[in-house]
Amino acid sequence: MQIQTIKTTAFNDQKPGTSGLRKKVKVFQQTGYLENFVQSIFDTLDVPDNATLALGGDGRYFNRQAIQIIVRMAAANGFARVLVGQAGILSTPACSHIIRKYKTFGGIVLSASHNQGGINGDFGIKYNISNGGPAPEKITDSIFDLSKKITEYKIADLPEVDVDTLGQSIFNDGKFTVEVIDAVQDYADLMQELFDFSAIKKLLSSGFKMQFDAMHAVTGPYAQEIFVNRLGASESSLMNCIPSEDFGGGHPDPNLTYAEDLVKIMFAGESSPDFGAASDGDGDRNMILGKNFFVTPSDSLAVLAANATLVPAYANGIAGVARSMPTSGAVDRVAAKLNIPCYETPTGWKFFGNLMDAGKVTLCGEESFGTSSSHVREKDGLWAVLFWLNVLAKKGMSVEQILMSHWAEFGRNVYSRHDYEAIPTDAANTVIAHIKSQFPSLPGQSFGGYKVKTCDDFSYHDSIDGSISHNQGIRILFEDGSRIVFRLSGTGTEGATIRIYLEAFDPEVKNHHLDAQVALAEMIQIALKISELKERTGRDTPTVIT
Ligand code: G6P
Ligand code: ZN
Repeated sequence: MQIQTIKTTAFNDQKPGTSGLRKKVKVFQQTGYLENFVQSIFDTLDVPDNATLALGGDGRYFNRQAIQIIVRMAAANGFARVLVGQAGILSTPACSHIIRKYKTFGGIVLSASHNQGGINGDFGIKYNISNGGPAPEKITDSIFDLSKKITEYKIADLPEVDVDTLGQSIFNDGKFTVEVIDAVQDYADLMQELFDFSAIKKLLSSGFKMQFDAMHAVTGPYAQEIFVNRLGASESSLMNCIPSEDFGGGHPDPNLTYAEDLVKIMFAGESSPDFGAASDGDGDRNMILGKNFFVTPSDSLAVLAANATLVPAYANGIAGVARSMPTSGAVDRVAAKLNIPCYETPTGWKFFGNLMDAGKVTLCGEESFGTSSSHVREKDGLWAVLFWLNVLAKKGMSVEQILMSHWAEFGRNVYSRHDYEAIPTDAANTVIAHIKSQFPSLPGQSFGGYKVKTCDDFSYHDSIDGSISHNQGIRILFEDGSRIVFRLSGTGTEGATIRIYLEAFDPEVKNHHLDAQVALAEMIQIALKISELKERTGRDTPTVIT
């Protein structure tokens, strides 16, 4: 095996965002672009002898080409073995599980998550460390630093590796192995250990109807194995389960806007199924629906935490919970009642890793349709779906009844997020600057029935490794516990996306049936007034409301 050292020119735009490096496919196709970033990852790491790398992606356009390049670069950079998902495909949570189960040194996930795919869509790459979770900021910062200075990369002369046939390909007199694995079985086995499959099986054979939408993305084969083969669901309860390189031309983001086919089925009146769910491009997000009923991700986390002991894996209780700052405080109320700690972290799953490694939290969640536990170190879409099925099987109530009784017990944190996508970056920055300029004068001001208590730009102090992360979102906190949060997305690839997160607490059962947009109408107007968003961006309405 010959190792070539190739001269390259650095790019200045390889800064990883909320979840790895995401760019248009065409950007990744530039000579040396992928190679530079991969070499910067490997140069950041101190790769020990006999190290194994896990590798796979969500199957989007450019996945296969990238896999071949990364395998050859891993060989040239001292890895002894690469574990590749069959056909180069691994869902993000499955990759996290593979890293943990096979104790690999780390893993590379090729995904732009819920962003559109295809030749004109996005591609992405991120590195996960040996705990199975996304690399922390000190690693991603170093990757970015090296990417700005890189002058050469290393790549081995290897023939095209067959990633479709299970088994090993051995190179370099046995010093380098590529092993293609069936990650679907590994992942399904893990789910079967965690959840009460016999209770779920019974529920699914009792006339209870579910509908799962894989959105033409990575979870299709996993859903087929788990729901149909192992749990006996009918084939018709799955939709869009054959992964495609451009996700069927759609936008694989499980929310009320982009999962519209499923939403139509679930909001069709009495004939709708009892339970609906969808997952995103790389399988880490989830959306949960009941018959004509939407469960916000923030409420979903709270319900799972409150009912965790119904699931075999959490039967002895949970150590603690964590949520990202913009996620509603619904889970905080559950934690208070269970007398367990609740942590508030910045947006991004990577901030949960330390807390889980230290055994401080078991369940984590984000408003951005992510929920998971310490069984892996990523969020996990199918895990959340199975958790809900397990709870539904044990409680014998509908999704809506579960939420209504949860709110009656804990009160309702009414919640919504309004996104304004693809705004010119300058305009977005002036909106944020304008809000910040009012920090000194906002406290004490009243807007209709709401009086501002404090405002700040959220900073997080990681109690485990001592690191501090600044500028994680603007919070305007009102006297009655309501709040408005403004944040710029860290995952977009076109201009800037402003997210407005709105939350108001309502203990009154008589209001709990209200649509969130109605219940939050006044807060929405206050947010627009303080930010001058319409005036500064020329936008009249959000592009996505969740
Ligand atoms: C990715 C991350 C999540 C994060 C989400 C929202 O999905 O894995 O942890 O919550 O992006 O990011 P954004 O910066 O776009 O709001
Ligand atoms: Zn994702």
